[in-house]
Amino acid sequence: MPASVLVPTDGTASVATMTSDTQDHTAKSATYPPPERLVNPEGREKPWVSSMAEYEALYNESIQQPTKFWTRTANELLTWDKPFTHVSLGSLKEGNMAWFPDGQLNVSYNCVDRWAIQDPSRVAFIYEADEPGNATTVTYGQLLAQVCSLANVLRSFGLRKGDTVAIYMPMIPEAAVAMLACARLGLVHTVVFAGFSASSLAERVADARSRVVITADEGLRGSRTIRIKAIVDEALKSCPEVERVLVFRRTGNETVEFTAPRDVWWHEAVAAQRPYCPPVPVSAEDPLFLLYTSGSTGKPKGVVHTSGGYLLGAALTLKYVFDIHDGDIFCCTADIGWITGHSYVVYGPLALGSTSVVFESVPTYPDASRYWKLVEDHKITQFYTAPTAIRALRRHGDDFVNKCDLSSLRVIGSVGEPINPDAWTWYSEVVGGGRCAVVDTYWQTETGSHVITPLPGATLAKPGSATFPFFGVELAILDPTTGAELEGNDVSGVLAIKRPWPSMARTIAGDHKRFLETYLSPYPGYYFAGDGASRDSDGYYWIRGRVDDVINVAGHRLSTAEVESALICHHAVAESAVVGAPDEVSGQSICAFVTLKDGFEANDTLKAELVKEVRTRIGPIATPKTLILVDELPKTRSGKIIRRILRKVVAGEGDQLGDLSTLSDPSIVDVLIREVSTAI
Ligand code: WTA
Repeated sequence: MPASVLVPTDGTASVATMTSDTQDHTAKSATYPPPERLVNPEGREKPWVSSMAEYEALYNESIQQPTKFWTRTANELLTWDKPFTHVSLGSLKEGNMAWFPDGQLNVSYNCVDRWAIQDPSRVAFIYEADEPGNATTVTYGQLLAQVCSLANVLRSFGLRKGDTVAIYMPMIPEAAVAMLACARLGLVHTVVFAGFSASSLAERVADARSRVVITADEGLRGSRTIRIKAIVDEALKSCPEVERVLVFRRTGNETVEFTAPRDVWWHEAVAAQRPYCPPVPVSAEDPLFLLYTSGSTGKPKGVVHTSGGYLLGAALTLKYVFDIHDGDIFCCTADIGWITGHSYVVYGPLALGSTSVVFESVPTYPDASRYWKLVEDHKITQFYTAPTAIRALRRHGDDFVNKCDLSSLRVIGSVGEPINPDAWTWYSEVVGGGRCAVVDTYWQTETGSHVITPLPGATLAKPGSATFPFFGVELAILDPTTGAELEGNDVSGVLAIKRPWPSMARTIAGDHKRFLETYLSPYPGYYFAGDGASRDSDGYYWIRGRVDDVINVAGHRLSTAEVESALICHHAVAESAVVGAPDEVSGQSICAFVTLKDGFEANDTLKAELVKEVRTRIGPIATPKTLILVDELPKTRSGKIIRRILRKVVAGEGDQLGDLSTLSDPSIVDVLIREVSTAI
């Protein structure tokens, strides 16, 4: 086990620190059976899985007869240009997994053409623009024409299969059109969340070697204008290899800079192209996209997902976990800049021929009823959001929910971080009205689709537990130090997966070694998820949070090292240490400790400058909520910063620091506790 993974920078196995700040959930928690309206649906189809016995039968088949299970599901849910004859190759030990390796398909054909051919008037997207009351729809017929025209534009730029395209766009249907146009030609997209700063964008564009960037003039969120094109212009100053910037006109602000011939207006380019473009069949193992995510080190990783296995994972999980049937209106509030947006706004819903809501705004604009009004207006049947939004909306009171008609809802989901049992219960009772199944779905950018989740018509839920593994996912809980698998129930350790599954990431762009080191070598033969977990006496899984230096702020993954590297760029900073602090709304918030170089004075102006440095280098999502200027950081005698102590102090557990004998100067602890208590 490499020391960097579980014994991060401060010489302590972090499982111990991680479990202490979570509640002690036990098998005795309240349980919630699947709601009556799912179990006995009047006038509607039964859920795809309507009892635990059915779940167990399918799960056992997926584990004991994987060839049979995956052949059936991959043929049921996907259309292949060339059928596969083999289900999977490779192992976690070798890191050479491949699924349906001799099969060929086209992802955009699967997501668009199949449904447009059947019924072009079926609605693919409902677009809820930032300003309420402006919803529009995109039918599958319209989507096909838009995807084809844009694919022809990309081809006219000289792009060919395997090239990468960066997408930096607001939450509008055209962002999905851009992704699908890439998929149509076998181009690899890399969507960068439009909240990232110019330098983060530049880093990702350069790492992915994108020669084309697709963007918009401006974005709108909660009536605020985001100058997206200006950020792209700034980023591209350091990316000379970018030849073309395709600009969608979202707001039409005339003052947006436009540099021909590099910059091309989307509407003009598209108007010149034929609205049909034959889909290019690709291997199931050809990459569909890269998505950058934070790991333990400062440099984000370009996680690579493939075409066949990924699409199957997205479609299969959505179908079963949200129990999607014909006519359902599915709404996932995630931005397409994150994996949740990829799998559950775009690829999953479209691969099932479903209707997906694209939500451009924020949950509190114009007021805290926005989500619930959205459900009422569009008769949404399944709704999927993050615990941070649930907690924030709960604070605004039940009236905002109760004044809307939410009777269309059947399944409501949560993703991104552990959901506290009381937030779960509020979601279930107030939003779900006690009539909906709540699905707490655990997964990651790297897993591509859900790996631990309830099934709405079958699982007896326990608030706060993601419950049981999805089909094909064989879980293990390992002893963090020895790596031994902890058998039986009532065990805690680190979460691992014992065999490959179709939608797992295959590599990190340009750095397979890092892929192996991060996920596969820590515990040979297992995929190491980076989360701590326990299995209670009923066999339910409880996710305890990250065991590495990743923090989860409002469901956004950030590495502490990334924020530290940004702070250190400021000329006044000598050293910095960043930890996650518990936060009632965002789960965790960023707490930065900084020491200054000689000659710099600690004051509020400097603090504001340091916060700005982080916002400029990474983006607003990485804004430290607390920044404390200290004279010294806690260090070992050999000079390593002991973040464990900082984590404990910001969590208000300064009295539970354990053994301090490794500290070079133990007196520093009292000073830190005093400083933190005045700052937080
Ligand atoms: C956390 C988001 C508990 C976890 C899909 C994981 C969760 C990280 C849950 C991945 C959940 C996600 N319960 N924790 N239901 N869902 N996480 O890559 O720590 O942005 O490792 O993917 O979020 O974050 P990512």
